[in-house]
Amino acid sequence: MDIISGEALLLLFCFMLSCFLIFTITRSGRNSHGAFVLPPGPPRLPIIGNIHLVGKHPHRSFAALSKTYGPVMSLKLGSLNTVVIASPEAAREVLRTHDQILSGRSPTHAIRSISHQDASLIWLPSSSARWRLFRRLSVTQLLSPQRIEATKALRVNKVKELVSFISESSDREESVDISRVSFITTLNIISNVLFSVDLGSYNAKASINGVQDTVNSVMGAVGNPDAANYFPFLGFLDLQGNRKTMKVCTERLLRVFRGFIDAKIAEKSSQNNPKDVSNNDFVDNLLDFKGDETELNISDIEHLLLDMFTAGTDTSSSTLEWAMAELLRNPKTMVKAQAEIDRVMGQKGIVKESDISELPYLQAVVKETFRLHPPAPLLIPRKAESDVEILGFIVLKNTQVLVNVWAIGRDPRVWENPSQFEPERFLGKEIDVRGRDYELTPFGAGRRICPGLPLAVKTVSLMLASLLYSFDWKLPNGVDSENLDMDETFGITLHKTNPLHAVPVKKH
Ligand code: HEM
Repeated sequence: MDIISGEALLLLFCFMLSCFLIFTITRSGRNSHGAFVLPPGPPRLPIIGNIHLVGKHPHRSFAALSKTYGPVMSLKLGSLNTVVIASPEAAREVLRTHDQILSGRSPTHAIRSISHQDASLIWLPSSSARWRLFRRLSVTQLLSPQRIEATKALRVNKVKELVSFISESSDREESVDISRVSFITTLNIISNVLFSVDLGSYNAKASINGVQDTVNSVMGAVGNPDAANYFPFLGFLDLQGNRKTMKVCTERLLRVFRGFIDAKIAEKSSQNNPKDVSNNDFVDNLLDFKGDETELNISDIEHLLLDMFTAGTDTSSSTLEWAMAELLRNPKTMVKAQAEIDRVMGQKGIVKESDISELPYLQAVVKETFRLHPPAPLLIPRKAESDVEILGFIVLKNTQVLVNVWAIGRDPRVWENPSQFEPERFLGKEIDVRGRDYELTPFGAGRRICPGLPLAVKTVSLMLASLLYSFDWKLPNGVDSENLDMDETFGITLHKTNPLHAVPVKKH
């Protein structure tokens, strides 16, 4: 009996000592000996740590917790050490000062289930030679200013098709599903720059919904909270079904890509004369690529296409949808944006990319949309490659680092009236989304900054300007602007839960 109570006392003592140490260590940047300590964070439950605090909208839960624990906050998600960043100063430390150490990635269970982390520009660590090769190829062969300039007519044409589809809906006095049509447009822009094919059609409802749903399912499987992200040994159980979804959906997309790649290989081998390379698309360039030491095989090309599809379609189209939703909720802002476009465009008929530089208010609308609705609210999870100090706190090697750009975009210490949609705040200011202003980094920053940024900004601005130039917009009967629902669903990207429907009225 004495022995048992002695052991119990010892255990109780150890427990209280650990609580005391955790409490004192997590309160401040340095302990009493001046050594760096872990960032503060909420108390942890045995085994699960803080998983119970994540919820359906992690960016919102983390934003609320950061108000208590500060801009560099520790969470223990099962076995996964996580640090959440929630201020421009801390974001600058992560994305600039310690960019090299913090440019690893923490692949999620769904990514690991298809071994995509070994073949993906998005998920390989930036220290790997393959990442450097994929990044260089993507930038030089697809996303350099010259390549983007070379495909500007393609974007204008795809947006023209969008406008003419909406015109027909307007003739029939039908509302338009903005989510669907903006996805089709960005899908066709991306599929044409990748392999010169339209994958989407405004009229073939069934087939396009297939691709949009497939891309959405992939994003959901990658980003949804998943027990196996927190306890890797549970992976084989696939409790949330993310592994299954990921396998089925990526297999579907890879099969489509393989068809196009095979057709191109067959075309190349049947050609006697070398093809005119000025019309080359991304896949042509990758098939022609001869590396010094590094080989690029067909599977690498497929995985690169998967990256471009998942990263490039849904992000741009959902930005357009949020922009339109905000403008429909704020009719005066919509009128102001349209007045600017009408003044600059007059009777020109078609908006071109060169017109966008003349539209500062429209550019401000796009920035304001990125501030309130960053498509990747926690960026893409990064990982510390070694121990590193952030604002006086130690971030241990292998910690997952999430930059909560959603929280930074709505922080009242950074923005006046943070929850209001007020594009005016950007007028006459230098602040931009290009990774130099840490209060607004929807594309990340540093060596892992989104390589698709210039293409995305051009595509979103052109689509938005064209929709506002060609049509007036109203909400369907029974929906009023003040109560327009703005519910969001978190995958790795943030969607409007219920697709936006709006009624176009032709202006010209
Ligand atoms: C509105 C549109 C878009 C947004 C908001 C966006 C946002 C992001 C973000 C936040 C990251 C992670 C950055 C970081 O870790 O610091 C990223 C990475 C990436 N994005 Fe985008 N993106 C968009 C469009 C595109 C487009 C159009 C493409 C290509 C066609 C693209 C391709 C990629 C790729 C390949 C990566 C991974 C880069 C790497 O890890 O090295 N994105 N994007």
